Amino acid sequence: MRNPIRTLPDQLISQIAAGEVIERPSAVVKELLENSIDALAQTIDIRLEEGGTVRIVIADDGQGIPSAELQLALTRHATSKIFSLEDLESVMTMGFRGEALASIASVAKVSLSTRTVNDAHAFVIDNSSFEIKPSAGDVGTRIEVQDLFFNTPARRKFLKSSATEFSHCLEAIRRCALANPQVGFSVWHNGKPLYRWSAGSLEQRADDILGIEFHAAKLGLNVGSELIQLEGFIGAPTASRARADQQYIFVNHRFVKDKVINHAIRSAYQDVLHGDRQPILLLNLAIQPDLVDVNVHPSKIEVRFRDGRAVHQFVYHSIKERLSHGAGQSQPTHTAPSEFVPSPQSFTSSNSVAAPQSSFGPRVFQQAIHFPKPDNSIKESMQQLLGGINNHSLHEPLSTSQPQEMDTYPLGHAIAQIAGIYILAQNQFGLVLVDMHAAHERVLYEKLKADLDHQIAIQTLLVPVVLNVSHLEISLLSDNQSLLKDLGFDISMMGPEEICIRSIPALLNKADPGLLVRSLIHDLEDVGSSGVVDSAKHERLASKACHAAVRAHRILTLPEMNALLRQMESTDRADQCNHGRPTWIQLSVQDLDKFFLRGR
Ligand SMILES: Nc1ncnc2c1ncn2[C@@H]1O[C@H](COP(=O)(O)OP(=O)(O)OP(=O)(O)O)[C@@H](O)[C@H]1O
Ligand SMILES: [Mg+2]
Repeated sequence: MRNPIRTLPDQLISQIAAGEVIERPSAVVKELLENSIDALAQTIDIRLEEGGTVRIVIADDGQGIPSAELQLALTRHATSKIFSLEDLESVMTMGFRGEALASIASVAKVSLSTRTVNDAHAFVIDNSSFEIKPSAGDVGTRIEVQDLFFNTPARRKFLKSSATEFSHCLEAIRRCALANPQVGFSVWHNGKPLYRWSAGSLEQRADDILGIEFHAAKLGLNVGSELIQLEGFIGAPTASRARADQQYIFVNHRFVKDKVINHAIRSAYQDVLHGDRQPILLLNLAIQPDLVDVNVHPSKIEVRFRDGRAVHQFVYHSIKERLSHGAGQSQPTHTAPSEFVPSPQSFTSSNSVAAPQSSFGPRVFQQAIHFPKPDNSIKESMQQLLGGINNHSLHEPLSTSQPQEMDTYPLGHAIAQIAGIYILAQNQFGLVLVDMHAAHERVLYEKLKADLDHQIAIQTLLVPVVLNVSHLEISLLSDNQSLLKDLGFDISMMGPEEICIRSIPALLNKADPGLLVRSLIHDLEDVGSSGVVDSAKHERLASKACHAAVRAHRILTLPEMNALLRQMESTDRADQCNHGRPTWIQLSVQDLDKFFLRGR
């Protein structure tokens, strides 16, 4: 027996839509906060009860809603933010679907009171009577959401403990607050005030929310053009974490989870971060709105870039460049064990990239900031990579030419070696301690990489390897034949689901060709060809450099030690070894004074 086709009742349509967007209290919080931001609020007050399952009250001092539009505000497909397809394509507000309030109202008890500057008093509406009544209240909007999912028991069953729900809500609040430092926030739970973050700079907000560890180990970033710009702070490798739980990536101030950006970041950190360590990140990618589609996912957590590869290259090179400064050329961020904080800020040859103009906050694009367009920057950094490093062979002894004017060298001149592990050097600020193995490993690694960029040596396989792959994988490989050739792979198609590997890069000759090609396919799937080169090279190189590097306990002469210091200064990313540990630290004369309780 078949039922006739019928149009669904409005309430049910909203509940179905709510299923996609409102999965738990934190989603309500997110939607309400975004509405307050869109209404240009300067302060937002958030009060939750039992993790938001019992009550969520969000009050802002934004523009408010005219009473004539109040009923529409709770109606599905009603919005003040777009009115045409063109509007959608250039949308800069967080909301545009005209669905959030209606969805919330279909699964909870909602009361909304609001007042615009033109009103003598506030008005209130609730979703049981839909009647509009006068009420008390300042300019702005206050929304109260009670008993979430009271009418959808299946949903309600999925709610976790109020502590868990609260932590999800707090995460939604942190995301919004980090994207909008120009707005002040206060957060209450079960009647207790928990946080108050006053409006201020991004750096201040980062300190408030991300804490002391990030404060000490963040590198400012502000690069790009009117078309695309990357701004915020990236964590130094020395402050990495085991989990990727402190990575706040925004696209036009919208928190997103994006494969392209994530892959670019992972690749950029690959040289300085070991294995599965995760950096702390707070970054906004400002991109012209017509170059990104925000209407991909109901909760808007995903976006699609018109040119994903360009975005990948831009993010990758911007971050990589920021991470790569020769030792002593940028402010070191690692802290010596105990309380001695290295303080050679004075080295900074002022290539400081600290954000000059902030695009965090007001929804406007900033002017170009002394940074070449993405294409140039790629070329430039390639040239730097190829040109900046001399071609020493791996086993060549460290050069022993005596450098002059030691005092002007950032890492100073060597005075001794202790325990066969550390080089002691003196510079204008005091004492420099170098882990010679870690430092040499880094210098060699960068050299090897430069060599590899010149030409890839190929290893023809004695016995070609046949591999079963899917249709999709075959098409990925054949789309990227020339790239694969450049990398040193000779791969031909045998059948509809079979390929044959005839050669691989000689540097990777110890690796399993099948696994290698599978991981290549994986990379190709992830981002297209842009990120592949680096990930394929990395692993093998790192271990090779590690084994070739001077072993601990080898006695070095002073000229050899000085030669290593000079090489470190001219090597990109020499502040950390391949595993993200520091290669050197500075103890200033003041630090030494502290040892001896010597006042100055
Ligand atoms: N805090 C607020 N201050 C002022 N106006 C608001 C506020 N919250 C909602 N509105 C008004 O109500 C309308 C409906 O809000 P709702 O969140 O349902 O949709 P939206 O924000 O337009 O789109 P989306 O569904 O993508 O969030 C908004 O377009 C806006 O005009
Ligand atoms: Mg909205």
